[in-house]
Amino acid sequence: MKRPVRIAATLMFAVGFMVTLPVTAQDKTVEDGVFTQAQVDAGKAVYDASCKTCHNMRFYRDTLRSWSNQPLLYLWENILGTMPADNPGSLMLNEYTEVIAYILHEQGFPTGDTVLDPDAGMDQIKILAP
Ligand code: HEC
Repeated sequence: MKRPVRIAATLMFAVGFMVTLPVTAQDKTVEDGVFTQAQVDAGKAVYDASCKTCHNMRFYRDTLRSWSNQPLLYLWENILGTMPADNPGSLMLNEYTEVIAYILHEQGFPTGDTVLDPDAGMDQIKILAP
């Protein structure tokens, strides 16, 4: 009865390997200058108009902590579907992207030359805890 156990263990290893692969394929993080200063500036205006009333920056620090190691695109989709809580989905798509750039920048993550774009590799950018 030793054989089946070993086969099961091998299978579990193989499955575990396949599941972890997509995560290790994310080669970028929010530390890597994945949004521009222009997006941060635009995001501040969106934030002040649509987000400020209900959350403070401390709230976003905790949010980034709880989302750390997840793809940035997932957070974008989450905010898009649920925020602002009094009118979900009411902003333009680029405004959601800009507000994320602003929040990340306020938490100390750097700007760069690449425009953050949900259609271009945002699923490959990993969130880190501030
Ligand atoms: C009318 C109040 C209100 C406004 C305006 C609002 N939110 Fe929220 N937000 C909430 C509530 C309520 C929750 C869920 C409860 C909680 O986690 O505190 C929430 C949760 C969140 C979360 C946590 C999501 C999660 O699953 O971890 C994020 C991120 C967020 N809001 C971002 C935003 C952004 C960005 C804006 C502006 C575009 C915004 N919110 C505007 C009330 C609001």
